[in-house]
Amino acid sequence: MASSRFDIAKKIEVEGSKELQRIVKKVLTEEELSKEEIIYILSLERGEKDRELLFEFSNAIRKDYVGEMFFIKGVIEFSNYCRKNCDYCGIRAANKIPRYRMSEKEIIEIAKTMLPIGVDTIILQSGEDPYYDIEKLERIVSRIKKETHLPVSLSIGERPKTEYLKLKAAGASKTLLKHETMNRKIFESVHPDDDYDKRIDLLLYTVSIGYIAGSGNIIGLPGQTIEDVADDVLFLRDSGVRMVGLGPFIPAKGTPLENHPYGDPELTLNTYAAVRLCIPKVFMPSTTALGTIDEDLQFEGFKVGCNVIMCNFTPEKYRKNYTIYSDKIKVDFFKTAKRMKDMGLKLNPRILKNLEEYKKVII
Ligand code: 5AD
Ligand code: SF4
Repeated sequence: MASSRFDIAKKIEVEGSKELQRIVKKVLTEEELSKEEIIYILSLERGEKDRELLFEFSNAIRKDYVGEMFFIKGVIEFSNYCRKNCDYCGIRAANKIPRYRMSEKEIIEIAKTMLPIGVDTIILQSGEDPYYDIEKLERIVSRIKKETHLPVSLSIGERPKTEYLKLKAAGASKTLLKHETMNRKIFESVHPDDDYDKRIDLLLYTVSIGYIAGSGNIIGLPGQTIEDVADDVLFLRDSGVRMVGLGPFIPAKGTPLENHPYGDPELTLNTYAAVRLCIPKVFMPSTTALGTIDEDLQFEGFKVGCNVIMCNFTPEKYRKNYTIYSDKIKVDFFKTAKRMKDMGLKLNPRILKNLEEYKKVII
């Protein structure tokens, strides 16, 4: 039986610093952490004893609050057209890349392959592409629901509130709309087409109408400090989101930030732990961006509080052009499931059964 949060707390009583002990006590009594306490967590460095203890604790919080099971979600990147020009993004409108759009039929065919292998949620992701008007999106969502009964998550950027409402009625139950950074100045400097207040307002709207709403931030935007990341964590806690997807900045060729350095992967892990302590029931993927810097670190995410991974189901001919950032890795379903199983992580029986079938084919 793995250790509970109380076992780890006892260990921290003996081996941890006074600061960490105070943080742990607060989490156990479900008191809110202060910004300073979050900054303490974010500032820990690899090799520090407190960091190891913190990760044991955030992992135990994950297990106690959301269980032993890890979830694999499947992403269909159905269009890389985008009308916006976020400075960090490789599929921004001004970037000269081959563009594609998947047909409704293609999207639904891919979605149907996800059900039998044990995918937990189907994520429909794209740039902000008005070609998919509300009628098309409603049709896609309702047909996927009808064919698979799996939860459908929308990762399609800013759309009118009325559309989010209609898509909920069509059967979508989850959303992912990242706030990217709580620092208004930085938000404005990297988002030439976006309004900070509008983004937050829309995100809170998705929460208010009953979506299992998700948000998240990028770590390592120009000018960002640890304090800014702490503000992101506080915002995520207070916003009512139930999913958090956050990852390091990765430079994307052809963008204004192509020469800006990578976001810090170690700070990303610390942020996962901080989010888990602040929102114990959160569903939180260890992100592809982290895996793009270091594949092993993405799997380390499962030991610090993450409980989800997003696998890619976009056909190769399209996937190679969904270049949000350069050298984006493919998180393959079977490869990922196998590695998670080998790590001793609990997966749903359907995945395990399919892994056996898959092994028969490749070995
Ligand atoms: N590095 C890291 N994350 C990025 N995203 C976009 N571009 C980058 C990048 N260069 C993330 C953003 C956005 C989502 C589509 O991908 O968080 O919300
Ligand atoms: Fe478009 Fe999203 Fe990329 Fe911004 S981050 S350019 S909205 S795909």
